[in-house]
Amino acid sequence: MQSYKQLIHQTFEFPTTEFSLRDNQLAFHNLPLMQIIEQYGSPLKLSYLPKISQNIKQAREWFGQAMQKLNYHGDYIYSYCTKSSHFKFVLEEVLKMNCPLELSSAYDIEIIRALNQENKIQKQSLILCNGSKNKNYLEGIISLIKSGHHRCIPILDAPNELDYYEENLKQPYSFGLRVAIDEDPQSQFYNSRLGLAQEAIEEVCRKLDQADLNGQLTMLHFFINSGIKDTAYYWSELDRMAKLYARLKKLYPSLTYLDIGGGFPIKQNLYFEYDYPYMVNQIVQTIKSACDDLQVPTPDIITEFGSYTVGESGAVIYEVLDQKPQNDKELWYMINGSFITHLPDAWGMDQKYIMLPINHWGMPYHKANLGGITCDGLDYYKNETYTFEAYLPTIPPEQPLYIGFFHTGAYQEALGGYGGLQHCLIPAPRHLLLRLVNDQLHVEVFAEQQSADSMLKVLGF
Ligand SMILES: Cc1ncc(COP(=O)(O)O)c(C=O)c1O
Repeated sequence: MQSYKQLIHQTFEFPTTEFSLRDNQLAFHNLPLMQIIEQYGSPLKLSYLPKISQNIKQAREWFGQAMQKLNYHGDYIYSYCTKSSHFKFVLEEVLKMNCPLELSSAYDIEIIRALNQENKIQKQSLILCNGSKNKNYLEGIISLIKSGHHRCIPILDAPNELDYYEENLKQPYSFGLRVAIDEDPQSQFYNSRLGLAQEAIEEVCRKLDQADLNGQLTMLHFFINSGIKDTAYYWSELDRMAKLYARLKKLYPSLTYLDIGGGFPIKQNLYFEYDYPYMVNQIVQTIKSACDDLQVPTPDIITEFGSYTVGESGAVIYEVLDQKPQNDKELWYMINGSFITHLPDAWGMDQKYIMLPINHWGMPYHKANLGGITCDGLDYYKNETYTFEAYLPTIPPEQPLYIGFFHTGAYQEALGGYGGLQHCLIPAPRHLLLRLVNDQLHVEVFAEQQSADSMLKVLGF
């Protein structure tokens, strides 16, 4: 009978840049995962921090090369959208790389204040304030700008936001416009609810034309929810936005930034293929052509990559607690954690992650379903779209099998209510930060497993 290792070699190009084998045990970026598990137990959440700066550098290179090749006049600005992971250790990595931050709510402003206190963000740093704005958020933006963050740019999501800034900011400031995209053809809606529809853009333009405003329009922004994909829909929306930028640039020369949002993909399976340099080249080319056609200067291009920045740095490791053959076809491997609360996107939107066993690669394989430990029937991992069974090694008697989910670093903690109540009170795992110091692995325990006391406190006990 073939081993699991043979199956993987037969099916995928393996090893990959991220994954390799040492003595039939998986290494992630050359990190010996079994040694980490032996020392810190399981379940475990891992954040491998060097991946964050690697990805930022890589994207900058792709945009730089495309701009050079196309003789593009304008800069590329890699900003980070904090909502994909607000953790301090993530923001520190991003700020070390001099990336502007893109915020989405009032409490994000408190993060900026905290970073200010530690001198981790400078007054001259670019800060993008996106999203729908409640009163707290509006007040926070005003107070940031008044405190000297003159490159803090609110991006209007509704035309009356501009009135608020004009009433409350008696000093020059910059603002941006978020344009509501046409949703992709599969969507239930024609236009996104986020951003300004055509009429609202015209209303803002009338305000700019008719009054002597303190605010200057410097940015046009849009975000295509379905991501940066090589589809007719993506290219036609990008083209439409680039042309809108060029038309507005003719009218408002203060416009200098085109912020194309997030949506750069990450590897979610071992057969992932995406031609990043080609896509970047096409993006830059589309923007350049639209501006050349109207003979206006090309913008500085901003991206707000969330998943791409932080997704590939994350992993979660579980131990198989029990094997349950529920009939002669269905075998369940029960893990010591829950998909619902640890990886809510896997449960809520069938998000796929790279799933690989950590040990026993030399064992024969069979089909097994991965089930979470909560009592919820839906707490299982849907491995493929049409079948949720995974091939996994058989487990030798009395020996534990560990399973890793990789590239889980974006959104899961905020969506899963990290530190709060959890379904069936299954705690958040111990969380380790992995760094390389002089090429040596350095492990920091960021958080111990969530305690019963902390949950009982939330529950009012
Ligand atoms: C306005 C905006 N920018 C950027 C992002 C980041 O998207 P991604 O994580 O796909 O890069 C999002 C995600 O929802 C967003 O809403």
